[in-house]
Amino acid sequence: MQKSILILGACGQIGTELTIELRNKFGSDNIVASDIREGSESLMQSGPFELLDATNYEAIEDVVMHYEIDEVYLMAAMLSATAEKFPMRAWNLNMNSLFNVLNLAKEKKISKVFWPSSIAVFGPNTPKENTGQSTIMEPSTVYGISKQAGERWCEYYFKKFDVDVRSVRYPGLISWKTMPGGGTTDYAVEIYHQALEKGLYECFLSEETKLPMMYMEDAIKATINLMESPAENLTIRSSYNLGSMSFSPKEITQSIQKHIPNFKATYVPDFRQQIADSWPSSVDDSDARKDWNWKPNFDLNSTTAEMLDNLKGI
Ligand SMILES: NC(=O)c1ccc[n+]([C@@H]2O[C@H](COP(=O)([O-])OP(=O)(O)OC[C@H]3O[C@@H](n4cnc5c(N)ncnc54)[C@H](O)[C@@H]3O)[C@@H](O)[C@H]2O)c1
Repeated sequence: MQKSILILGACGQIGTELTIELRNKFGSDNIVASDIREGSESLMQSGPFELLDATNYEAIEDVVMHYEIDEVYLMAAMLSATAEKFPMRAWNLNMNSLFNVLNLAKEKKISKVFWPSSIAVFGPNTPKENTGQSTIMEPSTVYGISKQAGERWCEYYFKKFDVDVRSVRYPGLISWKTMPGGGTTDYAVEIYHQALEKGLYECFLSEETKLPMMYMEDAIKATINLMESPAENLTIRSSYNLGSMSFSPKEITQSIQKHIPNFKATYVPDFRQQIADSWPSSVDDSDARKDWNWKPNFDLNSTTAEMLDNLKGI
């Protein structure tokens, strides 16, 4: 039987590629993209689209009923760097959209939910290397506090109301199709664009700031694999640690220099340095590997080759 899926916040960095992959996999007509704004041509023309505010419960419910939606992927959110500028707007968007989707599942109007968490759930007191699934958290950013609270609510809805909600803590994501939307790891996308356009990049993090990162193709694969896994295999209903590679601005620069030897980066840390300093350098994702066979395909050098090759062709 064909299932119908609704993506909220489909026009963003992850939503765009996720929507297109879900359409390839399950058929375009069954995958309804939605956002408060229109998206790229490839997204808008490849299947149904609705202008939809993820904070409006009734509006989401109408679309769910109209298309007989089974599963919702909630990608609408305000990201870490922007959320520090608009704390209350970030809290309202990140929490209300989650409650809307969890409540639709509680009311049995949908059967499955995907909601992404982030490495931002960790904080300055968290052990930095190979950070465990369950450890000291104490997030110190508005965004991290909203993700931490969101994780608690996901687990609560699973335990109390039998809501089938699934989640991963994405690291910083690198993609060439869509620009990032106001996060602290945005530099790792901008640097490839600037390397090709100017041969020069001014980085807003210091050269030694090592953070967990992932190529978008791996992130999309993880998301869909988790959603397709049998429920009984899943032991974590807050959010799974998810890792693939970790690197610093200096290391990504060196990786680009293998292709563009004259490329130069300078480092002028801004307010995002403090956010990055509160996050882990690498994460232990053994639960995801054990429960649903998570295994990434891309490392830093293969990501660099893919990014430069594809961006050259645009
Ligand atoms: N990109 C990353 O590196 C990263 C890392 C960790 C977690 N995440 C999480 O993944 C999810 C998606 O992130 P992204 O990078 O694609 O973000 P993004 O900012 O690129 O996209 C978010 C989308 O949500 C839309 N949106 C904003 N307010 C809305 C509303 N009220 N109703 C409907 N849509 C609305 C925006 O127009 C945008 O298209 C978020 O929950 C984010 O916290 C992302």
